[in-house]
Amino acid sequence: MHIERFDPKTDDERLEACYRVAQSGLPEDDPDCPPFSLRRFRSWSYGFAGEPQQVWLAADDAGEPVGYYMLALPERENRQNAFCDPIVALDRRRQGIGRRLVAHAAEQAEQAGRTLFMAGTRLGAPGSAFAEACGGRAGIQEVRRVLDVDADLRGKLAGLRAEALPHAGGYSLRFWTRPTPDELLGPVAALNNAMADAPHDAAFEPFVWDADRIRVGERKNVDLGFRMHSVAAMHDESGEMAALTEVDVDPDTADWGHQGLTVVTRTHRGHRLGKLVKVAMLEWLAEIEPQVRQIVTYNAQQNEHMIAVNEDLGHRVTDVFQSWEIDVAAARKLVN
Ligand SMILES: CC(C)(COP(=O)(O)OP(=O)(O)OC[C@H]1O[C@@H](n2cnc3c(N)ncnc32)[C@H](O)[C@@H]1OP(=O)(O)O)[C@@H](O)C(=O)NCCC(=O)NCCS
Repeated sequence: MHIERFDPKTDDERLEACYRVAQSGLPEDDPDCPPFSLRRFRSWSYGFAGEPQQVWLAADDAGEPVGYYMLALPERENRQNAFCDPIVALDRRRQGIGRRLVAHAAEQAEQAGRTLFMAGTRLGAPGSAFAEACGGRAGIQEVRRVLDVDADLRGKLAGLRAEALPHAGGYSLRFWTRPTPDELLGPVAALNNAMADAPHDAAFEPFVWDADRIRVGERKNVDLGFRMHSVAAMHDESGEMAALTEVDVDPDTADWGHQGLTVVTRTHRGHRLGKLVKVAMLEWLAEIEPQVRQIVTYNAQQNEHMIAVNEDLGHRVTDVFQSWEIDVAAARKLVN
C-alpha cells in the first residue's frame, strides 16, 4: 500500500477518489448523513478558516484507492493538537488499513510537534469500535438534529416570534448574505468569540477570531459557491451585535440548509434573542431559499439553552457523535 500526499486545490482526480471512498462508507458510517456534494467535500479538504491541513490518499499495489485521511495542524490555537479524519473504503475494511492510516498520520503529527490526536465518530458506527480498539479516550458528545421545513413549521413561526418579542425590546434585526459587509466583520468576529464558552473538550482551545480570520474563513466557501445567510440582532442603544445565526446552502444539495453558529453574547442573554434570530432566519429562508426542506444542526450534548431553542422549533435527534483523543505517541505504535 502507498500513502501519498496531494494538493486538493490542484488534484481533482485524487480528491474525487477520496470523495468516492467517503461516500462508499456512508451506509455503515452515517446512514442519516445529509447528502454532501463534491463541492462540500472540497471545502472540507481545504481546511478550516485558512488553517493548514494535509490530505493523504492510500492506494493498493494496483493503484486502487483504499482510504485517505485529512490531518488538520492548526497554527494559531491547538498547537499541541492534530485533528485526523481517516476513512477506509467500505469493501477494504478490517484488513488493518485504518490502523496504518492512523499510524502514518501520527508520524506527520509528530513531525509537526503535536502530542494529541483528536477525532470524531458516530456512536454505533465502525469508527467508534475502531477508536476504542486504538485506545482512544472518549470526550464530549455532539448531537445531530434535523428540522423538517414544512407547512407545520411555517404555521408555528408567527407564534414562536410572538413568544420571543416581548422579551426582545430594543433590538433590531439585520439580514445579509455573505461575504459579510466590511463594517460587520469586527462584530461578527466578536460573536464568534462568544462561542468560546460553549461546551468543548478540555484539550481543545477555542479559536480566537478577528475580522481578517472571518474574511479568510468565509472567502473559501463563498468562492466555492455556497450561499451563506446570516441574521443578527443589533442592540439599538449601543449599536452592538447581540446575537447571530448562520445557515448555508450548497447549490448541489439545495433542499438542505446547514446551520452554522447561533450565538448570543453574554451581556445580551436572557432576551430570547436566540429564538428570535432563528425564527427570523426561517422566515427569510422561506423567501430566498424556498426549496429548503430540511435543516441540519449539531450541538454539544451539554448545550442546554441552544438545544431548548432547537427543540421548540421542532428539531429531532438523528444521531450522536463522540469525540475521541489519543496520544500521538500511542497512535504511532498502532503499527510496528
Ligand atoms: C474506522 C475505520 C477507519 C477503520 O478502518 P479499518 O481498515 O476497517 O480498521 P482496521 O482493520 O485497522 O481495524 C483495527 C481494529 O479496529 C476494530 N474495528 C474496526 N472496525 C470495527 C468494526 N466494524 N466493529 C468492531 N471493531 C472494529 C477492530 O478491533 C479492528 O481490529 P481487528 O480487525 O483485528 O479485530 C473505517 O471503519 C472507516 O473508514 N470508518 C469511517 C470513518 C471513521 O469513523 N474514522 C475513524 C475516526 S477515529
